[in-house]
Amino acid sequence: MSNLFDLTGKAAVVVGGAGGIGQSLAQGLVEAGATVVISSRREDALKTAVAEIKAATGKEVFYAAGDATDEADVEKLLASAIAQAGKISILVNAQGFNKKQDALDFDIAVFNQMLTANITSFMVTAKVFGKHFKENGYGKIINLSSVRGKIATKGPGNAGYCATKGAVDMLTKQLASEYGPFGVTVNAIGPNITATPMMVEIFKKRAEDAGVSVEQYLKEQGAGLPMRRMATPEDCVGTVVYLAAPASDFLTGNILYPDGGLTAIG
Ligand SMILES: NC(=O)c1ccc[n+]([C@@H]2O[C@H](COP(=O)([O-])OP(=O)(O)OC[C@H]3O[C@@H](n4cnc5c(N)ncnc54)[C@H](OP(=O)(O)O)[C@@H]3O)[C@@H](O)[C@H]2O)c1
Repeated sequence: MSNLFDLTGKAAVVVGGAGGIGQSLAQGLVEAGATVVISSRREDALKTAVAEIKAATGKEVFYAAGDATDEADVEKLLASAIAQAGKISILVNAQGFNKKQDALDFDIAVFNQMLTANITSFMVTAKVFGKHFKENGYGKIINLSSVRGKIATKGPGNAGYCATKGAVDMLTKQLASEYGPFGVTVNAIGPNITATPMMVEIFKKRAEDAGVSVEQYLKEQGAGLPMRRMATPEDCVGTVVYLAAPASDFLTGNILYPDGGLTAIG
């Protein structure tokens, strides 16, 4: 039982791997011993993330650009990842976006974009990588959900985001049921709000509405949590390494919350 958290010899694909949380997760998986391929749509962002992870770890990291909502792109991503890193056994879905609008005025085109980016893409990657994992008799799928898959916000704005994250939770459970017989675990993590590129505009607006600076807004958000601070992207790393590692081989269909205690009191 000495290698419970060791990913040496394993290869992982992190979709959204140039994003705020995804890049931290990619780096954490590299540090745990895995060979990592990151993916998202913008090649320039991927190149920057690869260089930063390499500078931080001294390890080679690979990338393949593509749109995770597009099945043909995801087929290409899998082929490219195997060509660069060998047999893949870990898939992290860290893609998505967040747009806040009051339900009464929600732009349905934006709602549909959120469904496609935040849930359809998770299904597409799980379908394509699931076949590869089934062939290999082993695999780990880790989906980025959110505390907003479990608890709504008091104020308006989160109809799209909450709906898609609730869907991620149920997709995770159903896939766990279908893929378990092939030796594949499927779990999700539900972080609390974290300062990443996805949240910059949202934080600005909320701070403006509250008449405080962004720094003050973030400080107040953290102060309301049992752990008394805001989340950082690194707060998700330990949970994801656990879900990627042999330590979690009998854990499937679960949503784990590295959320500073929000769901305990929410
Ligand atoms: N930040 C938070 O407060 C928070 C809290 C809980 C959960 N989460 C979840 O954590 C995940 C990562 O969020 P983040 O805060 O790190 O966001 P982020 O910094 O905006 O990163 C999102 C990443 O997803 C990629 N992406 C978006 N659509 C894509 C698509 N169709 N195909 C491939 N890649 C795509 C983006 O790159 P391109 O645009 O180049 O494709 C980007 O690399 C999301 O699922 C989010 O919902 C975030």
